[in-house]
Amino acid sequence: MEKIFGKPLITQEEILHRIRELGLQITEDYMGKNLILIGILKGAYAFTADLSRAIGIPAKVDFLMTSNDKEDPPRKVISNPTLDLKGADVLLVEDIVDSGLTARMLLEKIGSYGPESIRICALLDKTGGRTLDIHPDYVGFSIPNRFVIGYGLDYKNKYRTLPFIAMLDDRTKE
Ligand code: IMP
Ligand code: MG
Repeated sequence: MEKIFGKPLITQEEILHRIRELGLQITEDYMGKNLILIGILKGAYAFTADLSRAIGIPAKVDFLMTSNDKEDPPRKVISNPTLDLKGADVLLVEDIVDSGLTARMLLEKIGSYGPESIRICALLDKTGGRTLDIHPDYVGFSIPNRFVIGYGLDYKNKYRTLPFIAMLDDRTKE
């Protein structure tokens, strides 16, 4: 795969190492709490799976499906939680926070279910794209304001299965 996509922006080893660190931090912060991880599909499927296994306390897992492709505004949540979130400590697991519009929409939606707390854990933080005053509580990597693919992130639903993060270039656009 690296032959096609060139040098990764973030390698698989770097991703997994950082996820272990995030898992330790979340374990410490949520000790004794009623943690529910909510993975945001589709982009965060891989991150949610790896992060959940790096957390050393019991946690429930749910998913929400969003449609938030840049090509397809407006961003929408197109499913509902399957778990009772009332009184829970919810950690939203996102692939990337860019403008912050998706994160704001998710905070509003999840907030309406009456959780004890809501935080956001984003694998990638594209601070240069931010238009809202929203900041993930846990961040894997801050990246430049460029379009990236891999490890769950797509371009037109392609390249999610790459085990690393790469920049989209003119060749991979095809
Ligand atoms: P926001 O609503 O602008 O913060 O965008 C968040 C969503 O846009 C993410 O959940 C991704 O699905 C998508 N997105 C933003 N930047 C990228 C990127 O560089 N690569 C792939 N998807 C992206
Ligand atoms: Mg996407």
